[in-house]
Amino acid sequence: MPSRYHEVYGKSMRDPEAFWAEAAAEIDWIKPWDKVFDPSLGSFGQWFAGAECNTCYNCLDRHVERGRPGQPAIIYDSPITGKSASYTYKEVLARVNALAACLVDKGVTKGDRVIIYMPMIPEALMAMLACARLGAVHSVVFGGFAARELATRIEDAGPKAIVAASCGIEPGRVVAYKPLLDEAIELSAHKPEACFVLQREQAEATLIEGRDHDLGALMGEAMAAGRTVDCVPVKATDPLYILYTSGTTGQPKGVVRDNGGHMVALKWSMKNLYGIEPGEVFWTASDVGWVVGHSYIVYAPLLHGATTLVFEGKPVGTPDAGVFWRVISDHNVVSLFTAPTAFRAIKKEDPEGKLIGDYDLAAFRSLFLAGERADPDTLQWAEDKLGVPVIDHWWQTETGWAIAGNPLGLGLLPIKHGSPSVPMPGYDVQVLDDAGHPVPAGTLGNVVIKLPLPPGCLPTLWQAPERFRSSYLDEFPGYYKTADAGIMDEEGYLFIMARTDDIINVAGHRLSTGAMEEVLASHPDVAECAVVGITDKLKGQTPCGFVVLKAGVDRPTAEIEAELVRIVREKIGPVAAFKLAITVERLPKTRSGKILRATMRQIADGDAFKMPATIDDPGILDEIEDALKERGLAGST
Ligand code: COA
Ligand code: AMP
Repeated sequence: MPSRYHEVYGKSMRDPEAFWAEAAAEIDWIKPWDKVFDPSLGSFGQWFAGAECNTCYNCLDRHVERGRPGQPAIIYDSPITGKSASYTYKEVLARVNALAACLVDKGVTKGDRVIIYMPMIPEALMAMLACARLGAVHSVVFGGFAARELATRIEDAGPKAIVAASCGIEPGRVVAYKPLLDEAIELSAHKPEACFVLQREQAEATLIEGRDHDLGALMGEAMAAGRTVDCVPVKATDPLYILYTSGTTGQPKGVVRDNGGHMVALKWSMKNLYGIEPGEVFWTASDVGWVVGHSYIVYAPLLHGATTLVFEGKPVGTPDAGVFWRVISDHNVVSLFTAPTAFRAIKKEDPEGKLIGDYDLAAFRSLFLAGERADPDTLQWAEDKLGVPVIDHWWQTETGWAIAGNPLGLGLLPIKHGSPSVPMPGYDVQVLDDAGHPVPAGTLGNVVIKLPLPPGCLPTLWQAPERFRSSYLDEFPGYYKTADAGIMDEEGYLFIMARTDDIINVAGHRLSTGAMEEVLASHPDVAECAVVGITDKLKGQTPCGFVVLKAGVDRPTAEIEAELVRIVREKIGPVAAFKLAITVERLPKTRSGKILRATMRQIADGDAFKMPATIDDPGILDEIEDALKERGLAGST
């Protein structure tokens, strides 16, 4: 059957308001919109202006009221603890009501912010939904960040309450969250009024009298009393959540998501992009701390009446590289969404894919990849071993759903390896040169999206509209800058090649080299530094820091390098995966003093590079290459 993509995409471009109004019919509104799109609001207009709604109602209540009370909403599978559980829509609603009641009892109301600091457990989703129910704005912080990163987010979001777990579990170690939380609150100028802590058996947290509450106990009481909390009507344009993501500095960007447009876009994507029917099991193997988790572990599957799977484990080592196949087979997963890194990890452990044969994958129909570039080798491997379409799609925290993809639900277009395929409805994607002129097909340039952005995308940054404009809108007037460089071919397929800023992508995690440089520069022995992302077979990229020591420092460099590795882990967190600090005599610079980071990266990767015309002293590049070779890099292996 030919794909309906071109017809559907064309309609979204010709008459976006009619297109999105039709999609919005899938959502239950408390009050309909005055305008589908109001160009006079915000920085570039807002979707569904005047409408009122509640995201939690659309995720839970309506399915309980209309035919799905007994269907599993959340399946929890935790190979790292050996636990599993399944909760029906009715059960999730009861728990979300109870959790919302706990928040209300401590004064949380519409518009208040609530930070959620939890691992991959069902309560993380329930806490998000409870906030949505109250019209409170959640901000989930990924567990792999250190106290200082959590503190930055507490200070910026100004939460009334924090919902946390006592610990997360990583292979071989229990990560006690409570000491990190206490330290973060200590560091932050803003103090929350209440902290709710879910005690897990692997690490009991000490609660601070007056401020901290035992979430499990309070929820138990609220459930026993049958407490319910009405869904609070919010404006479609009100914020549902803030999700902090790496920018070019140590100060993360608070990406804001609204309620109405977000629901419309995500609901549309489940059927049309992912090809999922309500009632089916959809598994996103990511973390609720990332945008992929927000959209496709929590909101989209539940808006659609599907079953979502919460997986607390790793693709390898919990217990082996067959765990993804075991989970797919145990729970009749029809579609898996994960980052290519997960597949590189599996392929490394089980290159022949032998473990796949141990499981019945009859229900499994498709694999979606995103979060980083899907290298053709990995994609080909997954296709060969699984025998289902493997679909790369490209998006960002900012957009909340795919900018480009291959719409399984509309009928797949031919897949081109290395390309996340074609723009999704509502996205007018173009490729411009640095002066803002369109480049010919097949030419590398800045990938931009003509304004307005479609529903679901960020309207602004939390309390930073100026930063929103300067980061995304000012450089190419009339366009949103994705900060990705790429190519569009003659057939309209996109190829995303690299970031144009200081962001790197490590195991599908978005990290700021600028933030790491700030940490390195804070070391008393460091005069200057540069962090670049170098190619890593497993994680795609890995950070590599070059440091120049202050004159007169005569301690062993190995000692200082080990300290630098430690402080990045302490200040940013283990997720930064910063393991390589290299002392050099000088950094290569242009005559105007700009550090030549791209050239250093090319040398580290052993790539051919052109000597920058403006380089101050070409001899430094040889020194950099020698330093890298000593570590087995720069093509020496
Ligand atoms: N809480 C605390 N620490 C965490 C954490 C969390 N939620 N998540 C990761 N970390 C730690 C890891 O334990 C590791 O610590 P270590 O340096 O002591 O080993 C460090 O952060 C780096 O983690 P990661 O880069 O994920 O490497 P890894 O070697 O632990 O695992 C993979 C490699 C490929 C198995 C893993 O990255 C993975 O499953 N990736 C899938 C991709 C994904 O989910 N991407 C999310 C966006 S879609
Ligand atoms: P994040 O905001 O964490 O989702 O990271 C977004 C960035 O990850 C994008 O700007 C890209 O640089 C990269 N990215 C995400 N998905 C893809 C993909 N399918 N192909 C290439 N790069 C991707």
